[in-house]
Parts: sequence; C-alpha cells; structure tokens
Amino acid sequence: MFNHIKTLSDIILEEERKAKTASGSFTILMMQIQDAAKIIASHVRCSGLVDILGKTGNKNAYDEEVQKLDEYSNDLLVKILLESGQVFAIASEELPDIIYTPKSNAGNYIVFFDPLDGSSNIDSNSPIGTIFSIYHRNSNILQKGENQVAAGYILYGPSTVFIYASKYSINGFTLDPAIGSFLLSSPNLKMPEKGNIYSLNEGNYELYDEPIKRYLTHLKTSKTYKARYIGAMVADIHRTLLRGGIFLYPADAKNKEGKLRLLLEVNPMSFIVEKAGGMAVSNGKNPLSIEPTSISQRVPIAIGSKENVKEFLKIIHE
Ligand code: AHG
Ligand code: MN
Ligand code: MN
Repeated sequence: MFNHIKTLSDIILEEERKAKTASGSFTILMMQIQDAAKIIASHVRCSGLVDILGKTGNKNAYDEEVQKLDEYSNDLLVKILLESGQVFAIASEELPDIIYTPKSNAGNYIVFFDPLDGSSNIDSNSPIGTIFSIYHRNSNILQKGENQVAAGYILYGPSTVFIYASKYSINGFTLDPAIGSFLLSSPNLKMPEKGNIYSLNEGNYELYDEPIKRYLTHLKTSKTYKARYIGAMVADIHRTLLRGGIFLYPADAKNKEGKLRLLLEVNPMSFIVEKAGGMAVSNGKNPLSIEPTSISQRVPIAIGSKENVKEFLKIIHE
C-alpha cells in the first residue's frame, strides 16, 4: 500500500477536524507560523555569510538588505502574524510592548514569541531556536499559561525540528529541505520518566542559594549524572525531551527572579514538557498556574522528567 509520511500540515488539519466549532482560523495561523519557521531556517543556514555579504553591501537571496538574525526573525514574525488576519495581539521578546492588529484585520488569537532563542550562539555556529505560545483572545492579554491553546518551538540544529503541542497531542517534525515540508519524525512524544543529564549554567554557582548548592552537590556525588549545557533553552529542552533529565535556570544573587521569561520561554516550554509527560516547577508552583504581571516577567524554573523534578523538589526542601 502507498505509504505517505504525515506532515505538520496534516496533523494541524486532522486536529481542526476534531475541534467541532473550528472555523479554519487556527489552521491558517499555524500555517503562517510554519512558513515563518521555514524562512527563518533558511536564513539561519546562511547566517555565517552575513558578515561577508554585509561587507560587500550585498542583498541576500531574498533581495533584502542583510540584517542581524534576531532582528530579522522578529520583523518577519511580526509582519506575518499581523497580516495573517487571525491575530488580535502579539508580544515578542524583542519588543517592549504588546502590538495590536488594526481592527479591520484583527483575529481571535494572541501569540507570544521569542523569535531567536539562544542568540549568543549564532557567532559560534551553535544551535538556536524560535519559541511560540498561542492563546485565545481575551480582554486580558496576559493570561495564565494553563490557558494556552498550543505552543511549540523550532530548533535550528543539524536538522530543523518543529515541536508542536496542542490540547490533543504533541508531535515532532523534521524539515525535509528537498520538499520544504516538516515531516512527522517523533509521533506522540513521550519523554523518559527519569534521565541522567542535568543542565544549568554552573558558572553561576557562587550566586546560588544554599538549597540549589545542596542539590548540585547531590547530583555530583551521586555519580550517575552527566552535565550538558548549550545555553539556548530550545536546544537544552529538546535534549531533555528526547533523553530525559532536568534543565534549570534558578534565581541567583544577580538574577533575583531567575532569567527566563514566564510568557515567552517558561510557559510554552512547560506546556510542551507537560504534554510529553514531564513536569515543571517555579518557586514550588506549576508555572502554568502563575498569574502573569508583565510581558517581561522572569521566573526561576526547573523542568524535565517527572522523577528528576521530584528529586529536585525533595532535595531543596530537605
Ligand atoms: P535569548 O537568546 O532569547 O535572550 O535567550 C537566552 C536564554 C536561554 O535561551 C538560555 O537558556 C539562557 O538565556 C542562557 O543564559 P546564560 O547565558 O545566563 O546561561
Ligand atoms: Mn530566549
Ligand atoms: Mn530571544
């Protein structure tokens, strides 16, 4: 029998059929995000050439002036989303304020995004990503993470991978550059219950409070853990999703609230990890239950395999 590999578009359409009242609006929005991801992925591939082309005052393959990748990714997502007709408001890590779609073209969704996560990795040709989080339109733009309709990330690594989580499922897709489609590569993602990798910026050790130091001593003396830290949350979470373990960005003496942003980084990743059977905590609470106060609000985070996060909680509360 003819065997067709499912694509991200197939899954989005299948889920639209499951939603009885669906109008097609969410499908259009996800198709637009998918297009943006492909364009950013193509630019990421050429990012090593930016300086060379920049010096010559050249334009790139799209006949655009060469621009920094994080600015470019932000501008592209802003434009695509505002013109999609499906969006009421957007908020980006690169912008200080919420942007509202003009009334004539406004839709029913709110999208938060981190257009280029791990941007300090660009110069060393290391992994980077894009994170997005979708909510229904509400008079209150800043909503609890548990209200998310869907969330996902795109990891620009050796392959471009798209992780998409909705209330129905979580699946992973790999971009086939030959046909320009995201092909289903990790159906019904389920993360390991426990892993042996921990991931945090240990350069901050002296700034951590006692419970975090105690937890780190536990990890190191247990002789079962390996350390891995890429410095791009998308890449560190992706490894945690596939191989299990724990990722942390705790509060410290310098970053008193932690570093990662609740609405742009922590909540989409917590939604994704929960859908895959994992767990996230922030100050002893599920971050998805935190009432947000601003777009740039930061919170501490421990996230990963259930058993690892439970072990973290046990040790910091001893
Ligand atoms: P961004 O590039 O979007 O500003 O995010 C960087 C974030 C996150 O991706 C990563 O986990 C963390 O910052 C790394 O921070 P440190 O350099 O402090 O370890
Ligand atoms: Mn980021
Ligand atoms: Mn960013």
